[in-house]
Amino acid sequence: MELIAVDEARCSRCGLCVEVCPVDILKMGDRGPEAIQPQVCLACGHCTAVCPKATLDNQKAPVEKQRELAKFPVLPAEIAEQYLRSRRSIRVFKRERVPRESLLQLVNMARFAPTAGNSQGISYLIVEEKELMKKALEKAVEWMEGQLATQDRSHWSFTYHVRAYREFGKDSILRDAPHLVLATAARGLPRARENTLFSLAYLELYAPALGLGSCWAGLLEMCLFAGYAPLLELFPVAREKSITGAVMVGYPKFRYQRLVDRKPLDVAWL
Ligand SMILES: Cc1cc2nc3c(=O)[nH]c(=O)nc-3n(C[C@H](O)[C@H](O)[C@H](O)COP(=O)(O)O)c2cc1C
Repeated sequence: MELIAVDEARCSRCGLCVEVCPVDILKMGDRGPEAIQPQVCLACGHCTAVCPKATLDNQKAPVEKQRELAKFPVLPAEIAEQYLRSRRSIRVFKRERVPRESLLQLVNMARFAPTAGNSQGISYLIVEEKELMKKALEKAVEWMEGQLATQDRSHWSFTYHVRAYREFGKDSILRDAPHLVLATAARGLPRARENTLFSLAYLELYAPALGLGSCWAGLLEMCLFAGYAPLLELFPVAREKSITGAVMVGYPKFRYQRLVDRKPLDVAWL
């Protein structure tokens, strides 16, 4: 089957599909668009999604899997600003567990983030069990203690996190979150970390719309990426995959009343 199928009678030859193709594999022929290098297609679906009359189909990005948009939604700038700025890292969660459907909804949005060359390739491992969260915390603390013992002051805060846990039973690493979303990718997937960052950023931005809150688990990531086996063993992933990111998720206990400021905008012009 050809990559591109065109309803020749209805195609107006407007050429939008040719113009939007990021890898220039389409040319306009007498009978409509033709793929000149079909093997290079990224499956991004720009060509099919832009077609005003849906006269074009792409085997790698079929129209039947696309959703019709009567009007492309554009948020008023003020609402968009408030929404983006009101996302905060949530570090105080309710004890309540999040139902599986909501967690699924959350990661389902994460997969729509941009990825290098539309490579996608990020999958998710969701920790549902509180016991497993506790074990992960314990392992992360053990790892930090090991780091401190080797005089490796790789992170200023390790002393604090270890002490908080050992002396006061406080979880300043996983913040008593009920859940953890781990991103995973095939070993060797180019730009896997960047794809993960965008994906989890989408997750973080979508979470408030589901009444959820999230916080990047950067400290746990340090331990995971250092390859600390006792922690990695808690999160079994297929041999050909590795963990590429981690975010804590739960219901926020508090609501923020104000939007904070950041460092002043630093911009240069050329
Ligand atoms: C890569 C990355 C790693 C992070 N790691 C942690 C972490 O381990 N623990 C934590 O409490 N917050 C972590 N954060 C959250 C930041 O501290 C937070 O984004 C920053 O203080 C700004 O606050 P806001 O997200 O509420 O706007 C991390 C954020 C990023 C982007």
